[in-house]
Amino acid sequence: MSHHFVRYENVHYRYEDGTEALKGIDLVITHGERVALLGLNGSGKSTLLLLTDALLFPSEGEVNIGDVPVTKKTAESIRRSVGFVFQDPDDMLFMPTIYDDVAFGPRNMNLPEKEVARRVSDALCAVGLSGLEEKAAYQLSGGQRRSAAIACVLSMEPDILLLDEPSANLDAKARRSLIDLLKGFKHTIILATHDLEMAEELCERTVILSHGEVSADDNTSKIFSDQKILKSLGLL
Ligand SMILES: Nc1ncnc2c1ncn2[C@@H]1O[C@H](COP(=O)(O)OP(=O)(O)O)[C@@H](O)[C@H]1O
Ligand SMILES: [Mg+2]
Repeated sequence: MSHHFVRYENVHYRYEDGTEALKGIDLVITHGERVALLGLNGSGKSTLLLLTDALLFPSEGEVNIGDVPVTKKTAESIRRSVGFVFQDPDDMLFMPTIYDDVAFGPRNMNLPEKEVARRVSDALCAVGLSGLEEKAAYQLSGGQRRSAAIACVLSMEPDILLLDEPSANLDAKARRSLIDLLKGFKHTIILATHDLEMAEELCERTVILSHGEVSADDNTSKIFSDQKILKSLGLL
């Protein structure tokens, strides 16, 4: 599934209580693009990421990863190539040790234990947590837990990385290493964030969601120089 794209066609999503979170999203994100997803709270960013990783399915319309439609049937293979770093790292760390957490995905794919060990070692090294393999998640700081959650996704060697507000609650040093780490990721990144500096440094393209619709989609630098748009985000 490499050199794929992510395509949203007329994507609607309605939660069970009737909330219309997405109201006709049309977007194409090509391989290797880094896209910032901005918008006020409740604008639909997390919902769009959940639909991209087959954790929710459109009420109407379609999401495609390459030529594979995201459906219940394809969910397992979609999740193999799409890695989702949840907003709360504690949702991703549930094993007795960090090693086991990061090994969880690769073991689930039935990879040989030697390959699992290589992936865990590479992923922990990439996020700067080498040496903490035997710790439990509760023994790590908030920033380290976030890094561990990212390692859980990197160990799957995904083609597409989805991150939901990854810099929230990070100190300056942890945030800097996260940005540097993501800069080194060669594949597609979709980054939902309120961290405009991070978006500007990392993402050449920005999509703004407003009430479940795309209200702007352009070069990040162009978007950030538009007062009207910044105002709509409550930034001016
Ligand atoms: N589980 C849910 N049940 C009902 N409504 C939800 C649920 N999750 C989110 N929503 C609603 O869907 C809309 C979009 O939410 P969300 O995608 O979380 O936005 P964002 O990530 O941009 O803050 C909001 O109106 C939110 O209240
Ligand atoms: Mg959200």
